[in-house]
Amino acid sequence: SGPEVYSPTGAPADADPEVRAQSGAYLTTAQGLRLPDTDHSLKAGERGPVLLQDHHLREKITHFDHERIPERVVHARGAAAHGVFRGYGTASAVTKAAFLGKDIETPVFVRFSTVLGSRGSADTVRDTRGFATKFSTTQGTFDLVGNNIPVFFIQDAVKFPDIIHAGKPHPDREIPQAQSAHDTFWDFVSLHTEATHHTLWNMSDRGIPRSYRMMEGFGIHTFRLVNEQGGTTLVKFHWKPRAGVHSLMWEEAQIAGGVDPDFHRRDLADAIEAGAYPEWELGIQTFPDTPEQTFEGIDLLDPTKIVPEEWAPVQPVGLMTLTANPSNYFAETEQVAFHPGHLVPGIDITDDPLLAGRLFSYLDTQISRLGGPNFAQLPINRTHAPVNDMLRDGMHQTALHTGVAPYHPNSLDGGCPFQAGAGAGGYVEVPLAMNPQAAKVRAAPASFDDHTSQPRRFWLSLTPIEREHVIAAYTFELSKCYENTIKERNLRVLADIDPELCSQVAAGLGLPAPEPSAPLAQVDPSPALSQLGASWPVD
Ligand code: HEM
Repeated sequence: SGPEVYSPTGAPADADPEVRAQSGAYLTTAQGLRLPDTDHSLKAGERGPVLLQDHHLREKITHFDHERIPERVVHARGAAAHGVFRGYGTASAVTKAAFLGKDIETPVFVRFSTVLGSRGSADTVRDTRGFATKFSTTQGTFDLVGNNIPVFFIQDAVKFPDIIHAGKPHPDREIPQAQSAHDTFWDFVSLHTEATHHTLWNMSDRGIPRSYRMMEGFGIHTFRLVNEQGGTTLVKFHWKPRAGVHSLMWEEAQIAGGVDPDFHRRDLADAIEAGAYPEWELGIQTFPDTPEQTFEGIDLLDPTKIVPEEWAPVQPVGLMTLTANPSNYFAETEQVAFHPGHLVPGIDITDDPLLAGRLFSYLDTQISRLGGPNFAQLPINRTHAPVNDMLRDGMHQTALHTGVAPYHPNSLDGGCPFQAGAGAGGYVEVPLAMNPQAAKVRAAPASFDDHTSQPRRFWLSLTPIEREHVIAAYTFELSKCYENTIKERNLRVLADIDPELCSQVAAGLGLPAPEPSAPLAQVDPSPALSQLGASWPVD
């Protein structure tokens, strides 16, 4: 059995925390002392000085003084909802993950977000959107912490602080607050050309979604699935919205940002309240788990690359329906803690160097953001599986652990539960052989070098009106840079994607269009790429 949770009312360990926090018919202090009045301080006479002995005054103001916690260092602005995920059973051949089994229903909590803006910023800015899903499975929590764009800016997590420093407001004036239109961002992405693909997606209509309900979601990294026989398959996760993929026009985004900065969170909450439950199908692209970990020449460990869906179709494995709004923003949407390392049997990671850094970063930042190491005990973060860990004490510990021997095996607390065979059924990392010849290096593989052919493929897949939008977006955003050298360097990046794109943006900026630095990549301009959701079998 799991550790006991202290319950002053004698209610079951997981009693509704809302009820525990707010019960009874009258107002009290935090200690339960009934209050006759909360509008007047205790004073020496009606017009006299306030007395320090007024405990209610001090308690009320002290608590208020500490109401804020640090916002997330990225993805600070978000909106969330509860729902349910139902497996189709179609993934059983490739994974033993129980929640993907046929008709298995699993509670989920999903948080959508922008990346760069602070908690109070507007919803409709041009940015990537976070799409993080917590599956409370019977085997433990699985978090799929993805975005609405299928690639990422950088290939190695060691650069994450750098790209975020470049994207966040300037350290001197704290502007701009929520958009990518500034010198540091454009300086970074033109000096680190691996960012070209993600940046082009941001400048497309995907950067200004119509609604959280109308976005795709992507796990981005390649993951490794494991079936009952131990067989492995490499996969990429996709969420496909039943409502289709829709974007705002730039002008609409600007107006909505002014008229209703809460446009997306209002839309999500209103839709759920009205019973128009948003739905997404979860799908997987599967690739053979070969020693090279490539597919059709694409390095599957490179998070700046997609695998075209024409080459590896997305296969539906389940349906997610969001059915309930949070009852308290702080307790749920703010305090939820996702982690890409929260995995369940049947799902494992790969050696994508961006993913490796994430596996460290989320727990680390949450210790600081949520005030210590015990935030897994917060109601929104509690796993629905039994917990019997060796983690003890620490700031904000709320569990009343029993026993005297928090180590295993031990011979004091009712025997030795981890004796022979007791770990059976536990999570086992895929026992992949490590390369014994590998030397320690600080270097990227040559297969990470191509930064232009996939952006070019994406550009060529766009319709004329979509291209117009991309040109207008680059022109607008780059026109906000103060430094001409930064505009010129970005034009050189565009020249390596497409001459029309480059020359039109250059004309808009009043600058000459540079020549490509090398012959343009020969790619198959597959028409379906910009319509990633279009071929999805709805119903
Ligand atoms: C937060 C996605 C890369 C560090 C988030 C969130 C999402 C996300 C969706 C918000 C979670 C929420 O709603 O609470 C991604 C994706 C990535 C990526 C899809 C690349 C494929 C990285 C990298 C790092 C990082 C490389 C660091 C090395 C963080 C941190 C937070 C965060 C520190 C805040 C977490 C918190 O305070 O709870 N990310 N991220 N991310 N991400 Fe990432």
